[in-house]
Amino acid sequence: MKFKSQKVAYWFFAACMLLLTLQLTYGFIMAFAHMGLDGLHDYIPFNAARATHTNLLVVWLLTGFMGATHFIIPEEADRELHSVPLAYLQLVSLLVVGVVAIIGFHLNWWEGRKFLEIPRPLDYLVVVNVLLFIYNIGMTVWNGKRFTTTGIVLFMGLFSAALLYLPGMIYFTNHTFDSYFRWWVVHLWVEGVWELIMGAILAYLLIKLTGVDREVIEKWLYVIVGLTFLSGILGTGHHYYYIGTPRYWLWIGGLFSALEPLAFLGMALFAVAMYRRSGRQHPNKISLYWTVGCAIMAFVGAGFLGFAHTLPQVNMYTHGTLVTAMHGHLAFWGAYAMIVLAIITYSMPLMTGRKLWNNMPGLLAFWTSNIGMVGMTGAFAVAGIAQVYLERKLGLDFMVVQKEIEVHFFGLTLAATLFSVGITLFIYNFIKHGLPRDEMVGDQSLDAEWVEPHQAQTVSAAPAPEKSTPKTGKKAKA
Ligand code: HEM
Ligand code: HEM
Ligand SMILES: [Fe+2]
Repeated sequence: MKFKSQKVAYWFFAACMLLLTLQLTYGFIMAFAHMGLDGLHDYIPFNAARATHTNLLVVWLLTGFMGATHFIIPEEADRELHSVPLAYLQLVSLLVVGVVAIIGFHLNWWEGRKFLEIPRPLDYLVVVNVLLFIYNIGMTVWNGKRFTTTGIVLFMGLFSAALLYLPGMIYFTNHTFDSYFRWWVVHLWVEGVWELIMGAILAYLLIKLTGVDREVIEKWLYVIVGLTFLSGILGTGHHYYYIGTPRYWLWIGGLFSALEPLAFLGMALFAVAMYRRSGRQHPNKISLYWTVGCAIMAFVGAGFLGFAHTLPQVNMYTHGTLVTAMHGHLAFWGAYAMIVLAIITYSMPLMTGRKLWNNMPGLLAFWTSNIGMVGMTGAFAVAGIAQVYLERKLGLDFMVVQKEIEVHFFGLTLAATLFSVGITLFIYNFIKHGLPRDEMVGDQSLDAEWVEPHQAQTVSAAPAPEKSTPKTGKKAKA
């Protein structure tokens, strides 16, 4: 770890672990309710559990992105974070807003708009909070000693994500308008600007873990950004099929969203190619697993399973069913949860000095959580397909169908238990790392502790051949 202020990341990651645990608890509450075991209904009705589950997901992922940013940006900009107290203030206030929102959901204080349930007064606090974050990171980048593509793409992704929160705050009395702009937030986040954040973290990790030249990896990042925007922006149309917008969205949405998997395929192929090309032994193997695994699982969950229901001819049957939940779980897990867990796995040894990188709990955490999540996806798929057939083909009543598919939620619960064992092991490892230590500041030995194949014969430990672009050179190019 080069800079002292990078330690801030640890506390963001710790908050992540806490929120993730809570998210899973609410997942189980819903899984049991789906089985007919809804004993908590009077205290935590399904809608409250669902809003809590999905909002906690978004908050822990954002907290993870923020932690990743606090770790990556000082290094990319080659200077300390602009203000450490501001970063702590921002983390604490984010958590306070999150807790108030969750309590609100349980007291029926919510907006009822999927993923944007947070009541309006709290939205304003979120805006202030995010402005603090963007200011702190923006100043760090602006006053940095160098500009790197990775750093700029990360910042632009975060900045655009903050801007895109605003369309969801416009007040409409018309449901079509409300729905139209809600998708600007939900879709343009996960299939637009969050992909930039993911791409940048992925690039950073691949540079560090494979030792492949920064220039090569950053060129590929441009391609990803291009593909994402080309397909993702008009791809928003795949949510406009049946909400009261003009018919042309059927064509535009179908066509462009069908191209979206290309960006995810690009990331997967590239990550695997870099992994194979490196032929090297970075000691933090588990982090490399999470990194390459993220790119692959994102392609399967977002690209492949997204494509499966994106054409209007299919979506008219699957819309709003458990088929959506099937895709939602693996896409969020592969693309965003795994990239956060990858950067945590990479940075923890560097912050704490404890090399828990190839231990059994870490490896088991990776495999059991991934196998568990694939199982959960399968359970949602079976339940979803049965639901589509009974409800949309045979025309049975919604609740009659829910009763019919109860059995599949036993399968979901089993797979979710395996998944949770994996997450528990991950958190166990996280805790075992202990707290970040000042002695690690300036110690880059762990960072560069690997040998390039062609140097292996002559040198025992070579430093990371990471090329830095001088600020002036990059500026002149731009
Ligand atoms: C990492 C990227 C992605 C994530 C995290 C993600 C997640 C989600 C989530 C949570 C929903 C439900 C949203 C809601 O109803 O409010 C959804 C819906 C949808 N997603 Fe994705 N998605 C991703 C990428 C994609 C891609 C690349 C495609 C197409 C190729 C796609 C196609 C769809 C479609 C068609 C729906 C609407 C389902 C319905 O009508 O109920 N998604 N996605
Ligand atoms: C213990 C593990 C988990 C269980 C038991 C679980 C269960 C559930 C259930 C039952 C639903 C509601 C489905 C419905 O609408 O009827 C749901 C929704 C959702 N969960 Fe999970 N979940 C778990 C973990 C996760 C994780 C780790 C993620 C993300 C990485 C996630 C993302 C989502 C999303 C995005 C939705 C909304 C899907 C949609 O829009 O249709 N869940 N979950
Ligand atoms: Fe979408």
